[in-house]
Amino acid sequence: APKILFDCDTGIDDAMMLLYLAAEVRAGSAELVGVGTVHGNVDSATGAANTLRVLELAGLDGVPVAVGAGRPMAQDVHFAVDWHGSNGLADLDLPEPQGAPTGESAPAQLVRLARAHPGELTIVATGPLTNLGAALLLDTELPSLVREVVVMGGAFDHPGNITTHAEANIWHDPEAADLVFAADWPVVLVPLDATHPTAVEADWLARLAAHDAPVARFASQIMEWYADAYTPTLKRRGAVVHDALAAMLALDPGLGEYVERAVRVELRGELTRGTTVWDARSLPASDARRPVRVAVGSDVDAFRERLLAAVLSF
Ligand code: BDR
Ligand code: CA
Repeated sequence: APKILFDCDTGIDDAMMLLYLAAEVRAGSAELVGVGTVHGNVDSATGAANTLRVLELAGLDGVPVAVGAGRPMAQDVHFAVDWHGSNGLADLDLPEPQGAPTGESAPAQLVRLARAHPGELTIVATGPLTNLGAALLLDTELPSLVREVVVMGGAFDHPGNITTHAEANIWHDPEAADLVFAADWPVVLVPLDATHPTAVEADWLARLAAHDAPVARFASQIMEWYADAYTPTLKRRGAVVHDALAAMLALDPGLGEYVERAVRVELRGELTRGTTVWDARSLPASDARRPVRVAVGSDVDAFRERLLAAVLSF
């Protein structure tokens, strides 16, 4: 089973991703070796508490959770309370987690686990990329030690979701994201172009709401709140579970369609800072940046059914 290290900003869709992965771990098709948290939807300590809550609910206690970067590399920190609630989980009144973060920092944990499992670690990053950028600065050999990095982030032909062109995870730390795309490791990027068509809709939400088990009830409560936030954007009842698509493509890449393109992050544009830019020319690349595999589509029905089945498996 692939060894997964998550880096996230839990967050409603991060929580759904954790539930999906917990089901895969129980089924023996993935191993979760650790989780790091980062500023983004909420502050990184709240993200860690939320991660512990979700893992405990799913019966996955014992996975090390490390708090990571509290702010971006070169700008002020911003949180996303409108999309996820002020506590990151739909303002639900949740019990304190039983477990606690390990005390190691997330970038240090990432480096340590990459060194402990050379060539084996798949990093799935579903928040701003500050921890990955910091880990690249800590250990310059890191790219050669990691099997693959799967990132939820960016927008190419799809509009942005935080500014006209920028997607939130990249916009929250553009410098860190550019470090990740510049490094010599295999990156799979799952942008809004791929995630938006997978939005779950009213029928999916109703099927989830029909179940009474604690995990299903929790998932239904956060997803109904998330759908309230998403409906004006989608113009129909639904919600985009971005982060779960990244995790699913990490475990089953065959569900996606991809193009291979060098990716850069706009760091200076007055209107476009934090935008991902790909080189779609058929000319030879003008620089030596390693191409990223960018997901541009996926098997939408398979995504929706597998996510629901995972949540209902508890
Ligand atoms: C991304 O931003 C966050 O709010 C979500 O959790 C997801 O990772 C989508 O742009
Ligand atoms: Ca996220």
